[in-house]
Amino acid sequence: MSPFLVTRTLPEDATGADLRADVLHGLTRTPKDLPPKWFYDARGSELFEEITRLPEYYPTRAEREILVARAAEIAAVTRARTLVELGSGSSEKTRHLIAALLPGLESYVPVDVSESALRGAAAALTAEHPALQVHALIADFTRGLALPGTPGPRLVAFLGGTLGNLLPEQRKAFLRSVRALLAPGDALLLGTDLVKDERTLVAAYDDAAGVTAAFNKNVLSVLARELGADVDPDDFEHVAVWDRENEWIEMRLRARGPLTVKIRELDLAVTFEAGEEMRTEVSAKFRQEGVRGELAAAGMELAHWWTDEAGRFALSLATAV
Ligand code: SAH
Ligand code: AVI
Repeated sequence: MSPFLVTRTLPEDATGADLRADVLHGLTRTPKDLPPKWFYDARGSELFEEITRLPEYYPTRAEREILVARAAEIAAVTRARTLVELGSGSSEKTRHLIAALLPGLESYVPVDVSESALRGAAAALTAEHPALQVHALIADFTRGLALPGTPGPRLVAFLGGTLGNLLPEQRKAFLRSVRALLAPGDALLLGTDLVKDERTLVAAYDDAAGVTAAFNKNVLSVLARELGADVDPDDFEHVAVWDRENEWIEMRLRARGPLTVKIRELDLAVTFEAGEEMRTEVSAKFRQEGVRGELAAAGMELAHWWTDEAGRFALSLATAV
């Protein structure tokens, strides 16, 4: 028996049903799109970890720098006994926070759609901190969250800039659902990547080694495996563009020529014109006033704003109002 708990809060078939609905909706419209949560099967989670080590991908290093500098302050301000982390992935950076919150911290609740990432992280953390209760939740954080009854105060962390992968309307609903989790004395720790020059941004999403391209194309492997899509990743090209108006990076897959993708499980044939692009991710970049405003609209108040030395990334600490 594993020394940590893993709970699936989605019905067994929910992932399959969700994927079908997203593919049916996203690939039968113009322009085509898919939600980014489908990148993260076991291979996609590994590729993301590889991205975090790329020279061009600064967000992970910048956020780690802030966490290392501010973990003690965060621990002193929040005095959290439970740390909930949404989209926790490998929980790699979270280690700094956990170390600072101990020994008061009793419980760690990582929440992710990637079961492989959750199990890997939970096993490593349990081995490192045997007294810490680790209760991993396999769940979609956009679908409402039922958290285990762990002791307060709670600190809810949402790191890495993953908030930016939600579209503005989804962000609004998501932040409201996070607000609903907070009791008096609880707090939200939010990581957001910041607006900066286009060259730095595009390089972070189009690295020289092609790891981000492989991560982007991984969604095609998920469609092939899960829905029987007869798709060849070589038929598509990785694209990363900066949308100046929306202040987000868009990742897309561009058809190298005219093609038809048959999706057996949906009894669907999707045609692409040569050069047609399908959006696979937005990664919004933020400014302090925008973050403050979005938190306020969801009933939270920005209490602390910390950035790395170079001002590339921010960590916000917010409380419920
Ligand atoms: N927080 C980590 C990982 C970021 S990668 C870091 O900062 O490095 C984004 C993580 O969010 C992945 O582990 C992915 O599986 C998870 N994720 C993406 N969409 C999700 C969703 N809708 N619900 C739950 N987890 C999600
Ligand atoms: C998880 N998320 C914040 C990453 C990002 O930067 O938007 C995912 C990613 N996409 C391409 N590279 C990394």
